[in-house]
Amino acid sequence: MKNTLNLTGRNLYDLDDYSVEEIETIFETAKVMKEINKRDYKKIPTLRGKTVVTLFFEDSTRTRISFELAAKRLSADVVSFTSAGSSVKKGEGIQDTVYTLNAMGVDLYIVRHSCPGVPKLVNKYSGKPVLNAGDGRHAHPTQALLDMFSIWEKKGSLKGLKIAIVGDILHSRVVRSNLIGMKKMGANVVVCGPRTLMPPKIDEVYGAQCVYDLDTAIKDADVVMALRMQLERQTEGLFPGLSEFTNRYGLSKKVIRSAKGDVLIMHPGPMNRGVEILPEVADSDHSIIIEQVTNGVAIRMALLFLILGGKPEREVA
Ligand code: CP
Repeated sequence: MKNTLNLTGRNLYDLDDYSVEEIETIFETAKVMKEINKRDYKKIPTLRGKTVVTLFFEDSTRTRISFELAAKRLSADVVSFTSAGSSVKKGEGIQDTVYTLNAMGVDLYIVRHSCPGVPKLVNKYSGKPVLNAGDGRHAHPTQALLDMFSIWEKKGSLKGLKIAIVGDILHSRVVRSNLIGMKKMGANVVVCGPRTLMPPKIDEVYGAQCVYDLDTAIKDADVVMALRMQLERQTEGLFPGLSEFTNRYGLSKKVIRSAKGDVLIMHPGPMNRGVEILPEVADSDHSIIIEQVTNGVAIRMALLFLILGGKPEREVA
């Protein structure tokens, strides 16, 4: 592996703490992990004896399962904690939950919570490395890493690419982490959505271009990413109805035509098919939505490997 930097013991709260070279180290490592995942026997012994906990206080399909698969493929022991069915239901707080798990000998925590900052709290109470698997509207750095890795693999680099991110920008932690990471890697990011679903000063804070017209956002784009309309977080009547949203901001074949001929279509999932993206686009030859999920396992294997101090693949394969 080239560019291998030492990330042992690091936390991952968001991508602002990581340099371009460190992100490239994660990508190079993920490339090796992806090859391992194509083998018949998809397992290496590098994290044997380590214990990883997925601590999820919010629902998840792809992040939790891909982290668990990633840890298992590296031979770590994995414990899956979800607040449903735990003593959180009896009133136990985060501090005592973490003290309890830590007393059983945990080496690393993967944390999802609806409140921003909880991953840092878990580090404070445990003293162990923590990977943020999504905290409120704040950040989702492993999703951003797998999104950027998916583009990097196809295009060779993110430098100079026009990346349009479209939809419910206001409620999205994915967009915030991607804006930090993509800008760092040299991409020109355009965010697009209704004014009521756009955070104030997103252009000033993140250096992204902010537009409200879908055709302007998509014209000559190298990558178009649709974001999920977060129906569970819409409590303030921020748009008139789903069909109005789809008419103005839904990705259709017709709309995508003004992007570059080799445009990549992405979505972090879960998708509302027919709302932010039509099936004709989600299932088109330009779509790499399913490959994003595949890459999620490789990126999470790379992170666990690097942060828990795994041995290089050539020594363990
Ligand atoms: N993209 C994402 O975070 O999906 P899940 O909520 O299914 O983990």
